[in-house]
Amino acid sequence: MDNASPVTRRALITVGGAAVVGAGTLVLAACTPAGSSTANANASTSTSGGTAAAPKAAAGTEVAKVADIPVGGSISAKIGNDPVVLAQPAAGKVVCFSAICTHLGCIVNAAATEFDCPCHGSKFDAATGKVLQGPAVVPLNSIAVTVSGGSVVTS
Ligand code: FES
Repeated sequence: MDNASPVTRRALITVGGAAVVGAGTLVLAACTPAGSSTANANASTSTSGGTAAAPKAAAGTEVAKVADIPVGGSISAKIGNDPVVLAQPAAGKVVCFSAICTHLGCIVNAAATEFDCPCHGSKFDAATGKVLQGPAVVPLNSIAVTVSGGSVVTS
């Protein structure tokens, strides 16, 4: 009887540790564009740095019209309810990123050749998603897109 209580506590601690490890795994999985919908659901409520989830949409979902993205510029858009940013660094070459800042999860704004976070001043390169200025240290999550018939679609 006396041993039952410590074992129970140990079991609970072990379960708690596994939950923490599991959450860490989900956070890491959410850093990949191909993260599962479960990982995305968990990451979307997280405010830890570098955990922004890439929106997941069926391949072929239109994100924007190519003509609406200035060559050498960028725009904001949505995939479903998820905010994204797109840039066209060269004519016909379009890139797309989650607009969720990898610092603490604010929504970055399209600003020509940069994506700027209004919360703490992070800046990201619109062509690559890489951090130009912190406090963020992790690039924006890339979303695979292709150009098809004048539209930018998820791939
Ligand atoms: Fe973007 Fe802090 S949330 S810089």
